[in-house]
This record gives sequence, C-alpha cells and structure tokens, in this order.
Amino acid sequence: MLIATDSDVTRAVLAEAARAPDARTRELLAAGIRHLHGFVRDARLTENEFRNLCLLIARLGQLTNESHNEVMLAAGSLGVSALVCLLNNGGEGQPTTANLMGPFWRDGAPQMTNGESIVRSPTPGVPVFVTAWVHDALGEPLAGARVDVWHASPEGFYENQDPAQAPMNLRGTFTSDAAGRIALRTVKPAGYPVPVNGPVGDLLRAQGRHNLRPAHLHFMIHKAGYRTQFSQVYSSDDPNLETDSQFGVTQALVAHYVLHDSATEPAPHVDVNGPWYSLDCRFVVQPGDAALPRPPITGKADRARPQLDVLSRQG
Ligand SMILES: [Fe+2]
Repeated sequence: MLIATDSDVTRAVLAEAARAPDARTRELLAAGIRHLHGFVRDARLTENEFRNLCLLIARLGQLTNESHNEVMLAAGSLGVSALVCLLNNGGEGQPTTANLMGPFWRDGAPQMTNGESIVRSPTPGVPVFVTAWVHDALGEPLAGARVDVWHASPEGFYENQDPAQAPMNLRGTFTSDAAGRIALRTVKPAGYPVPVNGPVGDLLRAQGRHNLRPAHLHFMIHKAGYRTQFSQVYSSDDPNLETDSQFGVTQALVAHYVLHDSATEPAPHVDVNGPWYSLDCRFVVQPGDAALPRPPITGKADRARPQLDVLSRQG
C-alpha cells in the first residue's frame, strides 16, 4: 500500500507480518508490532529520542561477549525476565520455585559428589552447608536430577568475571539422590552490584535506582521428562529484597540461613573453625520439555577484575 498517514504505516507493517507462514511467528510479529507502534504513539517519541534508542540497543549488543551479557541484564532490569518466568511457571496464582536464569549460568561445571565443597580457590566468607530437595508436582522426590549450583563470591564477583578466582569456583553440578536431595558446602553469598558501565547503568541512574542484587544462590534442575527449572534462593537477612535491581525476589524463594556456633560440628570429620550456616531449600519441577537453553556466557574473563560501582538509591 502507498502510505498517506501514520496509521497507514502500522496497517502496512501488520499486513506484511500476516504473510508469515508460521502461525506462532505471525502471532509474535503482530503483537510485537502493535505494542511497538503503540509505544511510539503513546510516548510521542521524538526523532532524537528514536535515534538515541537505536544507539542504546546497539550498545547492548556491543557490550555482550562470552563473559558478559548486557542484553539479558537489561531485560532483568526492566522486569521482562521476571515477567516471562512467572507467566511460564506456576500459573493460576500458584507459587513457583522457578526464577530467573540470570546472565551468569555456565554449562560444564565439574560433576560433584553430594557433600563436596564448590570452593575451588581461597574465598572469604562464612561456611554454609546447603541441602536442597527436588520434588515432582505430586510431592514425590525426584532422584537422578542434574542440579547445577553457582553464585557470586562474597566480594561480589562470579568466577567468570574474576581472574583471581579458579575456573568454575563456586560452581558445581550435583545429582539428586533417592530422596531427591543434593548437599554441598560453600560460603554464604553476599549481595553484589550489577555492572553499570553500559546502558543498564544509564537506565538505573535515570531512575535513581541502586544496582544491587540481594544475596542469592543459583540453581538449575534438569531431568528428562521435566521442564528444566532455573531458580534462585535469596537470603532473608538481605536489606535489598524489595528493591532487587532485577526484580527477581519472590516470596516463595526467600530462605533463612541458620547460624550455628563454633561448638557445633556441621558433620563428622568436617573442618570448620568458627560459626557456620546451614540452609535448606526445596524445588518443585513440572512435567515438560527438559531441553537446556544456550548458556548466556561461555567463558571466563582474562582481564583485570572489573571495578565494582555501587549506585545508591535516591529518594
Ligand atoms: Fe546472580
């Protein structure tokens, strides 16, 4: 069609989208175009703002590499990742133990035996002994599930960001036993700031938001016949639970670390001097497609540790 007005543009683009032979592609394109054009109209986007937006989106890609994913960080910072997760899991108001994959899952962490430590190089922090149970939707224990665990060091870095940490430090792959259980030793994580040297930083600064994530452990649960579940378990004592820069914290995933004094041994023959924590958590997986997604990162940075900039929350 020859275009005469702004409405004609939307009609023309929707008409072309309708030519896509694949039904789902057609549906995604139509909804995307309607909302995108609606956004331009509602916001009365100026030409300058449009050009700046294009530059910003290009910058998201330019900053994405094998050890950092700015696109995924931006999706989290706008709540899109949380929305996609909650729309696709749980359902009908039922709580789910699924949570954001995040930008730091790596495939190929070493296979561990239950009870082993995932601390692979000197890492500060109070020891924590984690026990996690995996159940199916009927509450039965799920044995033989692959459970990946990963988290940031208490200094605020995932190993892929930090040349000072051994490869795959604070990462491990476990297998659930007959009780659906895995157990591991690590150190209690601390909250950490997400990088703010790119568009995500500009976005947070523009809103007076901080860039912190409350302390958490990441999990990925995988078994044939069940929908692969990514989850995060948040520390109940973290001050930023309600202002997570990635909107990830759900009520179902706030867990309490139990502090034990040094007189109590975590287990026979385990070398712990001083206080330690225990943490119990539970995941419920649903029947479905077990296909693993492509990991958002594949490598470890060999540059110097990045500087950790912390933005404070304004107002
Ligand atoms: Fe994380």
